[in-house]
Amino acid sequence: MKDVDTTKMSADDWDELNFPRPEVQEFDRVVERAISRRGFLGGVLAFGSGAAVMGTSFLKGSTAMAQGASRFPFTPIAAQTDNTIHVPEGYSWDILVRWGDPLFADAEGAFDPAAGVSVDMSDKVFGENTDGMELYNIDGREVIVVNSEYTNRPVNLPHTGDGTPGSLDDVRILQNFQGVSVMEIAEGENGWSVVVDSPLNRRITHLTPMTFDGPAAGHDLLKTAADPTGMNSLGTFNNCGSGRTPWGTYLTCEENFNGYFGSTEERQDQKPLDLDAGYQRYGIGADGWGYDYHKWDARFDTAKNHNEPHRAGYIVEIDPADPDSTPVKHTALGRFKHENAAYAIADDGRLVVYLGDDERGEYMYKWVSAAPYVEGGDTSTLLVEGTLHVAVFDDDQTGAWVPLTPETTGMDAARIAVFTRMAGSAVNATTMDRPEWIAVNPTAPEAYCCLTNNSRRGAINDDGTVRTNAGGEPMTVNAPNPRELNRYGQIVRWRPAGGDHGSTDFEWDLYVMVGNPTVHGDAYAGSDNMNAGNLFNSPDGMQIDTTGLIWIQTDGNDGNEGDFAGMGNNQMLAGDPETGEIRRFLTGPKGCEVTGLTWSSDRRTMFVGIQHPGDDGGTWPDHNGSLARSSVIAVKRDDGGLTG
Ligand code: FEO
Ligand code: CA
Ligand code: CA
Repeated sequence: MKDVDTTKMSADDWDELNFPRPEVQEFDRVVERAISRRGFLGGVLAFGSGAAVMGTSFLKGSTAMAQGASRFPFTPIAAQTDNTIHVPEGYSWDILVRWGDPLFADAEGAFDPAAGVSVDMSDKVFGENTDGMELYNIDGREVIVVNSEYTNRPVNLPHTGDGTPGSLDDVRILQNFQGVSVMEIAEGENGWSVVVDSPLNRRITHLTPMTFDGPAAGHDLLKTAADPTGMNSLGTFNNCGSGRTPWGTYLTCEENFNGYFGSTEERQDQKPLDLDAGYQRYGIGADGWGYDYHKWDARFDTAKNHNEPHRAGYIVEIDPADPDSTPVKHTALGRFKHENAAYAIADDGRLVVYLGDDERGEYMYKWVSAAPYVEGGDTSTLLVEGTLHVAVFDDDQTGAWVPLTPETTGMDAARIAVFTRMAGSAVNATTMDRPEWIAVNPTAPEAYCCLTNNSRRGAINDDGTVRTNAGGEPMTVNAPNPRELNRYGQIVRWRPAGGDHGSTDFEWDLYVMVGNPTVHGDAYAGSDNMNAGNLFNSPDGMQIDTTGLIWIQTDGNDGNEGDFAGMGNNQMLAGDPETGEIRRFLTGPKGCEVTGLTWSSDRRTMFVGIQHPGDDGGTWPDHNGSLARSSVIAVKRDDGGLTG
């Protein structure tokens, strides 16, 4: 490995380490696009004034604003650089659950402040690195389902020093700390806590049996020695964002699955093995990302199990009401670095699910079921039979969802499901600046996607060509991704034609161009709704509440200097969809990422995820000098009012 701290590298950094791409030449960048800040906004904000063109239906949430009422129920807070949580005056926060807290009575006391959790207890506690989450009320019980995305290996394996697994037990600990936790929770005199030993409590890990359905189920690409049918797999991987279905199930989204696989085949150098195009496009390398599963668990050794990586990277459905149910990997919704899954219902009742592929220059997708959703009816085909589409954005602020079919792509249905990125390339999908969470506005027919950043956008290689994504598609600047070397990110918004999420056509704008107007005077200052009072970078998590308020969570540079001066720690902000105003609501402990948001059934509590709080050396939330613990917090109004 190179001389870098690999325990703190981002997903994209790992991909670049394993698949080195030509260096950027500082003197030879793409010429600055001729967009003044004001001129650019003139085009973007025309969206609001273009309401007449798009029909009036999307304005139906605007009554309160027309009367001059503020959509914000809180006073914004200042940026922070300390090692705790801040919320506005009139709000309080408390811990719901920390990594290592027990779900079952036999795991009480399983967490040791110095040693962590033993392998025997590792699948009986709340997982590490909390991410997407959803809450369900099941027969009167409040049940929260929470992803655990990846592991901080030095924190999870403190006995190893640097976090490198030294045994199969070490690998099993890591495999058990990730996946999904299903937990009944209850609110008592001392706030919210997990109901230990609830019959609905469940851990789903890298070792939990699941099945496949959809076009790739049973295909040769999914068959392995352990599963010659290609119908069953063990585990769900790198569970990033979440989603829910209208019929009460949970969707967990497999993102950076490639990092778990490696090869034990001996090599003379550190270059990737002789990889096929599918491995290359998905970043399946010889070394993996430091989990070292392949050295201890042959399933992850691609020299022995070439098809195993084809069995990860999907949307996985879990029924939180039935702890004995088998999770299902829905191959019809494509295989890529799934961020989250946001559903809407088309005017004719078909189920629509918006999906993003979080890698530099990858695409945005939309699933449309064949049959309509009928409440209480048969929902078994709605994530199986239908059509996956990919987004093509045009410069004139229109766009289209292009169907990925054998006719449009030249690929058969199974290969579209397994090598979805290649299908997107076949129809010239628009390369995006890392699509993170997508959110559908429940108060207007529109949806939003956080495009977190793309430091390689528009960069020029030594040979004069434009930097590409992993499939060789040039990441030239384009209208929804208009800044080269984009370190701040933006949020794109689209409104489907006729206000119908089932439409293939849409109009779009940029809700915010994130930037730093206290540092820059050009496009990197951002749009007019960025100001000294709400500075942030790298929008990532996102939910829109019942009032239409857009909650934005960040996973960015928290160095608080240079380009990022004044931004402070990662945070959660709220945005008004109509005025564009954005206010800071919460700041996380230094080093953390704020990700995952859901509400109690009465909406008087918002649950917020604090991931990797120890990345800056702190030990939040215990502050006892031991191990930092990723946690879910509960935020309430002191007056008991609604939080969204
Ligand atoms: Fe897991 Fe793209 O965030
Ligand atoms: Ca994310
Ligand atoms: Ca991110």
